[in-house]
Amino acid sequence: MLEKIRQTADFIISKTTIRPEVGIILGTGLGGLVDEIEQQEVLNYSDIPNFPVSTVSGHSGRLILGVLGGKRVVAMQGRFHYYEGYTMQQVTFPVRVMKFLGISTLFVSNASGGMNPSFEIGDLMLINDHINTMPNPLIGPNIDELGERFPDMSEPYSHRLIDLAKQIGTDLNIKLQQGCYVGTTGPTFETPKEYQRFAYMGGDAVGMSTVPEVIVARHMKIPVFAISIITDLGVVGRIVEVSHEDVKRIGAQSEKKMTLIMKEMLRRM
Ligand code: HPA
Repeated sequence: MLEKIRQTADFIISKTTIRPEVGIILGTGLGGLVDEIEQQEVLNYSDIPNFPVSTVSGHSGRLILGVLGGKRVVAMQGRFHYYEGYTMQQVTFPVRVMKFLGISTLFVSNASGGMNPSFEIGDLMLINDHINTMPNPLIGPNIDELGERFPDMSEPYSHRLIDLAKQIGTDLNIKLQQGCYVGTTGPTFETPKEYQRFAYMGGDAVGMSTVPEVIVARHMKIPVFAISIITDLGVVGRIVEVSHEDVKRIGAQSEKKMTLIMKEMLRRM
């Protein structure tokens, strides 16, 4: 795997001039942030050696290097999900590559179902912890060059970056929730009792991504910041039918707030 990571990073370096400091993974229908990136250098996933190819609608599958909020970034427009049939190593491969490109911080976004009764559709939630119900991407032989066999997970989401986001939320008058993200394999949305169980476990929102990438980033000691857009509610008594179209539509509406926060964070970092 190490060889493949190096090969892919070397390819990207050979095709681009920007050396990113921050990696950004954009979730379902949340690729609009890339419009704000300046000095863009774009690679299609299909042209990048060893990169899986994204299959879900709403994920266009491009790697964009450029400048956002004055910082050099590499953004994934479209990510890989376990439910698409990729292995956990494939799902998390781009995070390994971003590390080899030189990133020292990772930003992640996703769409999720809110389980906290105080949440409303369209809210942004700063992820401050997660509960993993998927296979762990670090199962298998450990590559010591990448990180430890038993990585610490006491601060999966950087407190410093959460505090910065909260300050910006206050300054820009953007309402921010905070909470724990439950990661599931999908592709089914939750049954009413599953939402109830995840809420009981301590979850505030549930979705089908993010956790694998965060685990792998933390394996490599990269500080992580993540925002979830609450696109539907799994709150007892308020559960309605949910579709991928709804998730994309609500995501697109709230994405502008998320982009503002991330851009301002980059500026102040
Ligand atoms: N459950 C799982 N994943 C999701 C949801 C949900 O309710 N909403 C958006 N992604």
